[in-house]
Amino acid sequence: MHPVKLKEGVYWVGEIDWDLRNFHGYSTQRGSTYNAYLVLDEKITLIDTVRPYLFDKMIQRLSSLVDPSNIHYIISNHVEMDHSGSLPLLMKIAKNATIITSPHGHKGLLAHYKRNDWNYKVVKSNETIPLGRKNIKFVLTPLVHWPDNMVNYLEEDRLLFSNDAFGQHISSSERFDDEYPLGIVTDEAKKYYANIVLPYSSQVQKALDTIVSLPIDMIAPSHGLVWRSHVTTIVEEYKRWASNQVDNKCLIVYDTMWESTEKIANAVQEAFESHGIPVKMANLRHSHISDVIADVLTTRFICVGSPTLNSNMLPTVAGFLTYLKGLSPKNRIGLAFGSYGWGGQSIGHVENTLKDCGFEMMESIKVQYIPDETQLQELFKKVKQEILLHEWVVNKFPSETQV
Ligand code: FEO
Repeated sequence: MHPVKLKEGVYWVGEIDWDLRNFHGYSTQRGSTYNAYLVLDEKITLIDTVRPYLFDKMIQRLSSLVDPSNIHYIISNHVEMDHSGSLPLLMKIAKNATIITSPHGHKGLLAHYKRNDWNYKVVKSNETIPLGRKNIKFVLTPLVHWPDNMVNYLEEDRLLFSNDAFGQHISSSERFDDEYPLGIVTDEAKKYYANIVLPYSSQVQKALDTIVSLPIDMIAPSHGLVWRSHVTTIVEEYKRWASNQVDNKCLIVYDTMWESTEKIANAVQEAFESHGIPVKMANLRHSHISDVIADVLTTRFICVGSPTLNSNMLPTVAGFLTYLKGLSPKNRIGLAFGSYGWGGQSIGHVENTLKDCGFEMMESIKVQYIPDETQLQELFKKVKQEILLHEWVVNKFPSETQV
């Protein structure tokens, strides 16, 4: 595959990871790309690298444009291995290159690679470096996704290299948002935000304030497709996700041992639907937590059910809740439910974790053995009544609950 031109003298020279199906626990059914970009100017500049096992392919692609030993600057926007992992290999070829990095990135690179002998230039936020005909500006965006993250703006081309922000895990021969079904690109961007960026939403809001003040023609993230025809769409989506706005919808996440907890899940579903609140069901035996989290991102009611096993939750539910708690979604309403044989501790564990997440809680549902039709009707009425009592039927979002 050849380099792909973004602007005059600016090329995508990254690599496609067609077979990637697991990105540190995130299920990546569509694979991914590691995007590296080359700016051909008086100072030849490479923005990020790829995972080491794809380095040779990246160098082949890059070499069709320029002798890699002539690279003057290597911008390392983020130390994580999917972007900086090939630096040791690249620095053997581009021996005289200077690595441009943020202050945290500098510390991270030294800690990762122990190479005091490489040339570094540490940049401050809003610093601009001339490359020749073009100028590149650096904006530090700490914690989008790690403390060292920064983005770059090629001023003359109005081109933002956004690093992890605006990325999607999609492997494709297409490089631009208008060459691929938009619904899939935005869905994957949503899943990426939910799984990677969500805990840092307040930092995203700060970064967006700076970014939206720049005139932008194109956003080139470090994973997936480049945004050129739908820049406004994805920026608006990011604003929405970063402000924790949610739809008045319900997500019921559960696992079940002998289908009793599933019976409760179905009754809860009916209670929400009786108020016209749309419900999505996710049995954790069949749904991956990284897909479920994508739905959490825009859903107001998060109901979680588990039967009791060995005085605890089922491991699938415990895993989901650990993941959920780490990602820290805000402004949610939670409900814990489950059936049990003799202990019934799982429901309390679910409830406590949802409380730890800061969720406003509905009254938990705990049923011993198999709920019969009468019990199911009673808990249907109870949930239905509680929704009514709190006036949760109307979608008050987004204006009343923005963070
Ligand atoms: Fe794509 Fe945070 O690395």
